[in-house]
Amino acid sequence: MKMIKNMVMLAALTMTAPLAAETTEATEATETENAAPATVAEIASGVCAGCHSADGNSVIPMNPILAGQHAEYITKQLIDFKATESAPAKRNSPIMSSMVAALSPEDMKQLGDYYAQQKAIPSQVAVDDDKLIELGKLLYHGGSLTNGVPACASCHGPNGSGIPPRYPAIAGQHAEYTITQLNLFNTGDRANDKDVMQQVITRLNGYEKRAVSTYISTMR
Ligand code: HEC
Ligand code: HEC
Repeated sequence: MKMIKNMVMLAALTMTAPLAAETTEATEATETENAAPATVAEIASGVCAGCHSADGNSVIPMNPILAGQHAEYITKQLIDFKATESAPAKRNSPIMSSMVAALSPEDMKQLGDYYAQQKAIPSQVAVDDDKLIELGKLLYHGGSLTNGVPACASCHGPNGSGIPPRYPAIAGQHAEYTITQLNLFNTGDRANDKDVMQQVITRLNGYEKRAVSTYISTMR
């Protein structure tokens, strides 16, 4: 009985395998002219959309908005999330590490281009704490002389659009995601930036971190 079952399966396999190969080849052939965007858009809408939305405008405050981010920065993060045989991931995130496991370097590059080309819709989470935003604005543009915190604007730009390839755009990002990142930099759990952000952030207290993150979410 078992043997018959195995034989049937084997037969099924040998029959479908060449067929499958042909189909893939055919698909590849028809898509060569415009293969890259189709494939990447498929990954984005099939795998990533549940958390980041198909166009990268995540509406879930814990998940970052990717739309309009610099391509180089996105590609770098995808590379950093991936562990290799010889080294652990440079940026630790159990969720994202499993997401990038199957991506090739070329997929990562194209996903960077894909999200960079999408139009960003800034965080729509309402904020009604003017004092918090006011303090955040001061810290963002002027830093804090007393604590030796440099202005965020000096690296992320006066309007938060960043400076490619190194300094990410942060304007309009969800405050909840931003504050999580600031805390991760602070504890050293995120250390894929060669310590730049650690230096910046260790001297901000919890309230100041919340203030600056909230202000950033309102930047347009
Ligand atoms: C189950 C939800 C989920 C899915 C699915 C998902 N992500 Fe993420 N993604 C997250 C979370 C949460 C973070 C923040 C990780 C952290 O810092 O701890 C993140 C972070 C990122 C970042 C870093 C953004 C930044 O500003 O630094 C990129 C880039 C990214 N994801 C791309 C993708 C791509 C591409 C896919 C599909 C292949 C994907 N994600 C699928 C939840 C998800
Ligand atoms: C000296 C330059 C510099 C200054 C000043 C600076 N940053 Fe950064 N920041 C960086 C770099 C570089 C990265 C990217 C790290 C990487 O490649 O992962 C970064 C990343 C970030 C991120 C992560 C973005 C994301 O999508 O995950 C946030 C949030 C951030 N910075 C907020 C701030 C805030 C708030 C301030 C001011 C208090 C600030 N930064 C000041 C250089 C700087």
